[in-house]
Amino acid sequence: MQAKEIKILVSEYESLEELITTDRELVVAAREIAQNAYAPYSGFKVGAALLMEDGSIVCGNNQENASSPVGICAERTALFWANANFPEKAVKAIAVTAIDQSGSRAINLSPCGACRQVLLETQHRFSQPIRILLDSREKIEVLQDADSLLPLSFNGNSLKAGV
Ligand code: THU
Repeated sequence: MQAKEIKILVSEYESLEELITTDRELVVAAREIAQNAYAPYSGFKVGAALLMEDGSIVCGNNQENASSPVGICAERTALFWANANFPEKAVKAIAVTAIDQSGSRAINLSPCGACRQVLLETQHRFSQPIRILLDSREKIEVLQDADSLLPLSFNGNSLKAGV
């Protein structure tokens, strides 16, 4: 038996002002698009903003449905839209934020398992790490790549024969 330890680096910032300009703009874009989320059932409005390799920003938010499994998270709305419209452009970073039922920034925010898998797919597709910025009420956490959110992941390499 061999035990291995998998470590992730989480850089924690206290406020927007501490971030570099491009990160700050991305978080602001996520905060803005969160306002437009369609979340009448959970009251939890999530915004996601992607920094594309050309410097442009693509945004998405959660879209709920009376038939609950049909709804989709903010992260996947943004990622699918970006990948559909700009199939040649790599995604460099994603900022995610949420407004809770009281109208304040959510205390804790972390992408769901499905969104982690889609983030990983986009990272794999362009062979470039996607930095993750998680903007919650008292801190902004920055992770280096999508693997940090999903260690021991299943990806396209797993499907290759004989590897
Ligand atoms: N949600 C997101 O959009 N992203 C996350 O990272 C967490 C959860 C949405 C899904 C649902 O519309 C609502 O938040 C409550 O789960």
